[in-house]
Amino acid sequence: MVNAPTLRKTRISALATYVPPGILDNKKLSTMVDTTDEWILQRTGIKTRHIVDKGVATSDMGKEAALRVLAKAGLTPADIDVIIVGTTTPDMFFPSTAALVQHKIGAHNCWGFDLAGACSGFTFSVSVASQLVSTGKHNRALVVGADTMSSIVDYQDRAVCVLFGDGAGAVLVEPAVEEGLEIISFEHEIDGSGGPALQMPAGGSLNPSTHETVEKRMHYIKQDGQAVFKFAVRKTEEIARKVLAKNGFTADDVALFVSHQANRRIIMSAADRLGLPESKVMINIEDYGNTTAATIPLALEDAIKQGRLKKGDLVLLASVGAGFTVGSVLLRWAV
Ligand code: UT7
Repeated sequence: MVNAPTLRKTRISALATYVPPGILDNKKLSTMVDTTDEWILQRTGIKTRHIVDKGVATSDMGKEAALRVLAKAGLTPADIDVIIVGTTTPDMFFPSTAALVQHKIGAHNCWGFDLAGACSGFTFSVSVASQLVSTGKHNRALVVGADTMSSIVDYQDRAVCVLFGDGAGAVLVEPAVEEGLEIISFEHEIDGSGGPALQMPAGGSLNPSTHETVEKRMHYIKQDGQAVFKFAVRKTEEIARKVLAKNGFTADDVALFVSHQANRRIIMSAADRLGLPESKVMINIEDYGNTTAATIPLALEDAIKQGRLKKGDLVLLASVGAGFTVGSVLLRWAV
């Protein structure tokens, strides 16, 4: 008879982020498309975004965040067993961005892969990493959430270009060492019926790149903003309630709600429905815009800097993105 494996508890043991120095603010955007600072701020909550210089790719930002998280943890790249890069904007189809990050940081003892979860890239990747570590097969996973959204944003489409920015975050997932300070659980969903509401139509096997796809601007994000907005509010609340209830908690127990940063109004609507006061909601979208897989680590880092996140806090992460993907991770902050 085969014994069931004993699963270990896991924790996020370190966090670091990187954003490129280039800034694209609302004033500059209003010289590029027919928009205003007032419209963008009121409808989205965004003031500025960080944008990479030409030639800088997702693996470059991922490398910076990875080296920073290793430095914070006092570790070397050789200490990593597996790298997972959550991204929608890989440097290229192949090799994977995980392989590029591995090479750029010189992590010689690991394997790895990319995870395509769109805006749920970080929540999905953390929970996969947690499962890999919990079995005992891996001791240390490097999770990178990184996106170069400026590479797929149409800067002639005012309804989309105001929303996105570039950035990266990295965490280490290791076995838990202190009682209760751990990744408690996760709940995820995927619903492909939402595909047409948010997609980049060309460049893949369905519509390979041709002069025509380029002329038709099919290599950029196409979005039904209102459909995504409504789905995001409803599902953020739903997945948050699900992960809390399944683990015996209510929204009152949450110290900090760190949602994917797509639109200030989406986050606050979901928080209101959950009965969470603004004091328990982390929002930093004004400084970065929507950086897809990087928003949650960027928000966690700012929460720490602002003294709003400390060891032992019950933290609820939630995300909704293209696919549609829906993710949530419930954890006690262990750093
Ligand atoms: O991670 C997931 C990624 N995506 C999202 O989360 C997006 C979710 N959706 C949204 O955040 C919002 O739907 C948007 C911010 C994209 C749009 O806000 P909205 O309040 O839903 O605006 P709307 O689409 O209903 O458009 C209202 C008006 C329209 O003009 P008319 O038809 O009323 O004359 C738009 O053409 O606002 C116009 N508009 C703009 N005006 C100035 C759209 N974009 C802009 C703009 N500046 N940048």
